[in-house]
Amino acid sequence: MVKAIISPSVLASDFGNLSAECRRMIKGGAEWLHMDVMDGHFVPNITMGAPILTCVHKGIPDIFMDCHMMVAQPEKWVNDIADAGGALYCFHLEATSDPISLIKAIHDRNMKAGVAISPDTPSTAITDEVGEKADMLLVMTVYPGRGGQKFLDRCVPKVAELRTRFPQKDIEVDGGVGPKTIDVCADAGFNVIVAGTAIFNAPNPEEVIQFLKDTVNTAQAKLAK
Ligand code: DX5
Ligand code: ZN
Repeated sequence: MVKAIISPSVLASDFGNLSAECRRMIKGGAEWLHMDVMDGHFVPNITMGAPILTCVHKGIPDIFMDCHMMVAQPEKWVNDIADAGGALYCFHLEATSDPISLIKAIHDRNMKAGVAISPDTPSTAITDEVGEKADMLLVMTVYPGRGGQKFLDRCVPKVAELRTRFPQKDIEVDGGVGPKTIDVCADAGFNVIVAGTAIFNAPNPEEVIQFLKDTVNTAQAKLAK
């Protein structure tokens, strides 16, 4: 059985007060912070890169930065993100031709390695070898590029397929996740919850965090029986 981990997506935060926003989430119960790095190539938007992550890490040295790399050449940024204090480097499978070497490069820099798939990529594109070598698998339930989009139910079966093949792996779902959509994801077996607008825009983020985590932990207990 895997445990629920919450990773609020800072894309929905006030970027002008990023460190304070991260602290607010940690205080509200967040174990990780989901840092959405976009390069204007893999996705049309640009958000932030290593210099900003470095500043956040300096202010909050024990923060766990779950770096979601929506970038065209993920090989290029491993060293910069490691130097910036990234804890997990999650690249898109669609953006590389050699995921195994990339996972090794990430591990060589003492980061955890994550492999993300966009809505049109089947879960079977993650081979057994890649899945076993990775520390986390990320199923996108929106097209990467912006927050606040509608959750795509059709991606949920991929979570279940990956959970069957990798019973002990951290499996993350990202995009449109909130109190209304958590149930289907939890039943499919994911455990790392990314939520942007559902948490940052809530009047009581800690209540939402607790609710999302409880839902996942209850579903995990049921699945373990
Ligand atoms: C989308 C990002 C997500 C996004 C999630 O490209 O990868 O992390 O911020 O935001 P919500 O939870 O608002 O869909
Ligand atoms: Zn993300």
